[in-house]
Amino acid sequence: MKPHTLKIAIPGAASSYDILSGNGILSGAGAWARKCLGRDTQRLAIFSNPTVNDLYGDMLTKSLRSAGFSVTTFLMRDGERYKTLRTVEAALAKFADEGIKRGDAVIALGGGVVGDTAGFAAACHLRGVRFLQVPTTLLAMLDSSVGGKTGVNGPGGKNTIGAFHQPAGVLIDTATLATLPERELNAGFYEAVKHAMLAGGEVLANTRHALDSREPKRLLTMIRSGVEFKAAIVAGDEREDSKKRDSHSRKVLNLGHTFAHALEKVTNYRKFLHGEAVGYGLLYAAEISKSLDLIDKNDINLLYDVARGVGSLPPLASIDPQEVIEAFRFDKKTHAGSLEMVLLKGIGKPVIVAADKIPQNTHAAAFRRLLEMQ
Ligand SMILES: NC(=O)c1ccc[n+]([C@@H]2O[C@H](COP(=O)([O-])OP(=O)(O)OC[C@H]3O[C@@H](n4cnc5c(N)ncnc54)[C@H](O)[C@@H]3O)[C@@H](O)[C@H]2O)c1
Ligand SMILES: [Zn+2]
Repeated sequence: MKPHTLKIAIPGAASSYDILSGNGILSGAGAWARKCLGRDTQRLAIFSNPTVNDLYGDMLTKSLRSAGFSVTTFLMRDGERYKTLRTVEAALAKFADEGIKRGDAVIALGGGVVGDTAGFAAACHLRGVRFLQVPTTLLAMLDSSVGGKTGVNGPGGKNTIGAFHQPAGVLIDTATLATLPERELNAGFYEAVKHAMLAGGEVLANTRHALDSREPKRLLTMIRSGVEFKAAIVAGDEREDSKKRDSHSRKVLNLGHTFAHALEKVTNYRKFLHGEAVGYGLLYAAEISKSLDLIDKNDINLLYDVARGVGSLPPLASIDPQEVIEAFRFDKKTHAGSLEMVLLKGIGKPVIVAADKIPQNTHAAAFRRLLEMQ
């Protein structure tokens, strides 16, 4: 499949940018970066972790040097627990040491943890230098590398410190997924299922196709349609306007995430990968939608069918439902007292519902249904 460029233009943002996707295109990253950044950029800081850098750092460095950039590398430790201000501080010290100037740029090579942290460090350095995203997990390709949300975890919880900072370009090379552990790939698939449930139509068809056979061509088609869908939503509501509640609001991208965040929190971010928690969150949102008579049986069955196609999720049995439901309240605090849940009126028909419209026993019943399915 030929490389493909999707153009993203966000009204009001400083510039538009391209998302280049293909299979085996990382070796051409130098020319791509030059196109994104222009002739005058001299220095690039690759921001990665040792796992990904060992696999792809040399290829990227070589390609960037051949396009005339001088390159330095900052490595953060591998893992969500290092997505912190302390890591950002270390990166900023390195950028200063290496003389990264306003016209230079940061290039994130890795999954969502690297991308979010690198983007935020780029937003802070000299009040903002440009950054490029080279996502290497399915989750990052489909989701975190597009949309401009950057940040780290703080005392208030996950992603509570951050900035909107759009990348100057995104390069998605599906060949890098060949080394991704299967569990991580499956976790990414749940975010694809989320897009499929929100968008329906072609996005759903492409996701089912990729789940049937996970060959690069099908993965690429799924990623392109998911990214296109997300980009269109982001373009209409870059900063997730708290007053917007329609089906095009950026909030709809949180489908499955209220429950997912609660599940991650009560298990100290150890038992579930984010995407796995989202997997449960999608089923939970479906159950609540069913209880409120929003969605019909055929659509529910379809959702379950697609989610099952991803594979099995780590068991829920050891988790106290009450604790998870309590954890919603924490989410409420971070949302200024007006917690909302994204539900489905059908596949491709998200709806935003105020959480206080959902009775407590509906939550408890939905949780019980998930436990019964184990
Ligand atoms: N900014 C956003 O809009 C947004 C959206 C969704 C998620 N996120 C964030 O993304 C993060 C999760 O990202 P993730 O799921 O990519 O996890 P991750 O970045 O931790 O990567 C998962 C693991 O895979 C390894 N890895 C990455 N690429 C690899 C490759 N090609 N081959 C082998 N190993 C590889 C990583 O080193 C890591 O150990 C969370 O912090 C979440 O908050 C952000
Ligand atoms: Zn997510």
